[in-house]
Amino acid sequence: MSKQVPLMTEAKSIHGQWSSRLIFILAATGSAVGLGNIWKFPYITGENGGGAFVLVYLLCIAVVGIPIMMSEVMLGRRGRQSPINTMTRLARAEGAHPAWSLIGWGGVLAGFFILSYYSVIAGWAIAYVFRAAGGVFSGIDAAGVKQVFGDLVEDPERLIAWHTLFMLMSMVVVARGVRAGLEKAVTWLMPALFVLLIVMVGYAMNTGSFAEGLKFLFEPDFDKLLYACEMVDGAQQCEISGAPILVALGHAFFTLSLGMGAIMVYGSYMPKQSSIAGSAILIALLDTLVALVAGMAIFPIVFANGLEPGAGPGLIFQTLPIAFGSMPGGQLFGTLFFVLLVFAAWSSAISLIEPAVAWLVENRGMTRVRAASWIGLITWLLGLGSIFSFNLWSGERYKLFGKSFFDLLDYLAANIMLPLGGLLIAIFAGWFMSRESSQHEFAMAQPFYSLWRGTIRFLTPLAVVMVFLNAVGVL
Ligand code: TRP
Repeated sequence: MSKQVPLMTEAKSIHGQWSSRLIFILAATGSAVGLGNIWKFPYITGENGGGAFVLVYLLCIAVVGIPIMMSEVMLGRRGRQSPINTMTRLARAEGAHPAWSLIGWGGVLAGFFILSYYSVIAGWAIAYVFRAAGGVFSGIDAAGVKQVFGDLVEDPERLIAWHTLFMLMSMVVVARGVRAGLEKAVTWLMPALFVLLIVMVGYAMNTGSFAEGLKFLFEPDFDKLLYACEMVDGAQQCEISGAPILVALGHAFFTLSLGMGAIMVYGSYMPKQSSIAGSAILIALLDTLVALVAGMAIFPIVFANGLEPGAGPGLIFQTLPIAFGSMPGGQLFGTLFFVLLVFAAWSSAISLIEPAVAWLVENRGMTRVRAASWIGLITWLLGLGSIFSFNLWSGERYKLFGKSFFDLLDYLAANIMLPLGGLLIAIFAGWFMSRESSQHEFAMAQPFYSLWRGTIRFLTPLAVVMVFLNAVGVL
């Protein structure tokens, strides 16, 4: 850290700037709130035993998520470029090794991985918009819902069609620039999604199993967290395992869009005077709230209908339709709900592509249209693997470590790559960036700055490393 090169901070990124702090918050919340909150959080909570898992996840948000989100925004706004170039530039300015740009490269790869299956699941949501609107769910029971879901995921052609559509939708937005369409859309879509979730909770409260659902979600049972259980030939087999804690950590990264540069690139479009800490905390709170509300809507329905909380990725697609099918106005609400789910996924998907597209524009001189098309094509192809995991490749012989292609990709990206990326971001921001640089960029009161710095230097890296060691069985 000897030869510090002064940083010529640009006032703006070449890609543009959000029109206000509020827009930054909405865009980042649009990135954070997505399938992770409504689809993934309930099903991994179900698979990992409920309350204790939720507790560990909340702890990860506080100790790891918020400090890293602040760091990503801070780094992005200071570098004002795609994450790859931002890290190169900041490393040079701080006299650190240029290899720190690996954070950006790893992020681009993680973005490909995540978007490839994210788009497949978003495709399910699109398919469900039409099923809900067509009245397929009216009066449906648990068996009927299983059938509808099975018919969809066992048909690769249908899945490819929806996956293609979602991918095209995402490409179009990124190609036009994030500011044009999405900035306006998120402004009313996010509140609307929230209102609909409240309606769902209202319904769940009247199912008679609301207490059971809440108990599952909020009553910690640490045995369920520490033992990983699997159904083998109809019998439950359990063994002690650090994996669920790693899943909770991974999900904290996933749900806040951290560890791969998405929030960093959004930070690079943030106006100079806006408060980073305040924005990060607000985004994390909103995101957590949506996840908890989704859980409160879903688990009562699971218990009231004798469904399995550990049903896996199909969970919300096999619970919510039952509620829509029996509530007054359910056809309308159901349709709206899945439309909004698609929009929530959409505003997240664009943030997964943006880092790679910004880099192609900066370094290869591509137009955004070209850049987005390339990224879209690669990701689309990779997505086929996830599609086949639900049908052609669903057999045991196509599994690696007992996981399908889809499970493996999700596990690798969310639970390994994101926490690793986050760890490096924390180390760079806390140890390699000078106090003057970060303090100047944050521009917040001394005690709060010290709190961030202490956390990001010690607590955050320690937590991530310990969870890793625990997962591989060392701790
Ligand atoms: N946070 C989004 C969700 O919960 C998904 C997402 C968008 C994401 N951008 C990301 C995840 C970047 C990891 C990294 O659905």
